[in-house]
Amino acid sequence: MYTVTDQNANEKLVTTAGRIADHREKYHEAVVERDAQAATKQHPRGKMTARERLNELLDPGSFVEFDKYVRHRSHGFGMEKNRPFGDSVITGAGEIHGRQVAVYSQDFTTFGGSLGEVAGEKIVKVMEFALRTGVPIIGLLDSGGARIQEGVISLSKYAQIFKRNTMSSGVIPQISIVMGPSAGGAVYSPALTDFVIMVDESSHMFVTGPDVIKTVTGEDVGFEKLGGGRTHNQTSGVSHYLASDELDALDYARTLIGYLPDNNLAEAPIYDSDTAYEITERDRKLNSLIPDSANQPYDMRTVIETIVDSGEFLEVHPLFAPNILVGFGRVEGRTIGIVANQPNQMAGTLNIDASEKAARFVRFCDAFSIPIVTLVDVPGYLPGVDQEHKGIIKHGAKLLYAYAEATVPLVTIITRKAYGGAYIVMGSKEMGADFNIAWPTAEIAVMGGQGAISILYRKEIAAATAAGEDVAKLRAEISAKYNAEVTSPFLAAERGEIDNVLEPAGTRLAVIKALRGLRGKRSEMPTKKHGNIPL
Ligand code: HXC
Repeated sequence: MYTVTDQNANEKLVTTAGRIADHREKYHEAVVERDAQAATKQHPRGKMTARERLNELLDPGSFVEFDKYVRHRSHGFGMEKNRPFGDSVITGAGEIHGRQVAVYSQDFTTFGGSLGEVAGEKIVKVMEFALRTGVPIIGLLDSGGARIQEGVISLSKYAQIFKRNTMSSGVIPQISIVMGPSAGGAVYSPALTDFVIMVDESSHMFVTGPDVIKTVTGEDVGFEKLGGGRTHNQTSGVSHYLASDELDALDYARTLIGYLPDNNLAEAPIYDSDTAYEITERDRKLNSLIPDSANQPYDMRTVIETIVDSGEFLEVHPLFAPNILVGFGRVEGRTIGIVANQPNQMAGTLNIDASEKAARFVRFCDAFSIPIVTLVDVPGYLPGVDQEHKGIIKHGAKLLYAYAEATVPLVTIITRKAYGGAYIVMGSKEMGADFNIAWPTAEIAVMGGQGAISILYRKEIAAATAAGEDVAKLRAEISAKYNAEVTSPFLAAERGEIDNVLEPAGTRLAVIKALRGLRGKRSEMPTKKHGNIPL
């Protein structure tokens, strides 16, 4: 039946002012109202709303929203009662440091941020926009996972998202910031992206939650221990940065974007630098960094901070496998990736976690044309039954594969130990490094002096022990001879495995020159569909 109200509404729509008023009342105010309600739900939990997070992430006023007024098509099961504009995710584009990025931000206050048909379509659309325009995509996740009411439709949207994550891999940088739950299959989109940032104590990722685990295995575990930010940063390695709060997470993402190119065909942004072109006081401090005792640790961060502009090193994955350091810095204002053994953690040995951490980082840098500087002080792969049985052979091979396949400029500096397979893998000449430097303190060999002596001089040491002679003195004498005749970096330099042996203070300038010389590097891989990295 035609009513007076309908007549008024239709009359309103024939004038410009009427249409604008209609938009304001029916649409715009509904979105504003919902944002206000979202705040009342999120703030008491110490969380920002989906829109507030985007406002903090992006340059002020730069956000352009997509699909603001789409609504889900009802799939029954109570869904017909509530059809909010925009559904459970805000999508669009904006700028970070004046550079375009694509974004989506899940709204936990709408259907628990769950992914139904329309939310899925929105995310797929913005992912395709990012790929089409060649800009990074950042997802802010806060979701109960697949929307239960929408059944298989929801699952199919996840599949579309995973497919696009994979197609985008190596083409545009993908960053996930987990700011609440990320449950069930929802974890696999972040897992397919390049960097996962989690917020301490308020973000959780798990394939099956505590209740299911209790039912199936009988294990009693809480959300935090099972899939909290600390667990995924320290233990599983799923996450690359543990933010102290939401602002810290967004700030890390902004800083990270500053180091990255828009896509695999673009160059990373170049910043002004106040590079000193003579040896500085800070450079000279490296001459006294290496302790006299070969087993005494030191902090490899000191070397990294000396090499990079303004000592600024953006570490990635700092809490996972701390025996290897990876992250970004700049040299002459240009982005570099750094991979470095850390002698003050597990003596800098390579284990499964360190190999995987570094391999993934090397592949990211290679995909996005970021030169890699490798700092080496490694006694070898970590010995032990546990590591062997967990597959150090195949996991260690990942790092070999990553370096061998890398075509970006590779500069390697050996500061101290470089033994065995670990020497080979850490950016050695024959693995494809372009410029290899050693400090005079470098020791390059199949193994360290003590191990070598124990094998080669077993009989002499046994005889000296039986005769009650000074075995320590004997070992020291043989060790000195071994170092002079086998491990000296000059022997490697004679064979061309090392391009230059130089005093530590000259490292920064040598890296600058090497990277300059390599800017025009061309390197081709044989034609193939793809390789078969040992996974
Ligand atoms: C629809 C959901 C939902 C979901 C939460 N909600 N998850 N609605 N589908 N998956 C709704 C709730 O009904 C509630 O609605 C609101 O969101 C807030 O949820 P609460 O449970 O009250 O919040 P909280 O106590 O903070 O707990 C958050 C949570 C919990 C831990 C995420 O909601 C939860 O366990 N959800 C289900 C997680 C899950 O198993 N998802 C499916 C995984 S399987 P009202 O109206 O009351 O506000 C999956 C398969 C994908 O994802 C496969 C892809 C390959």
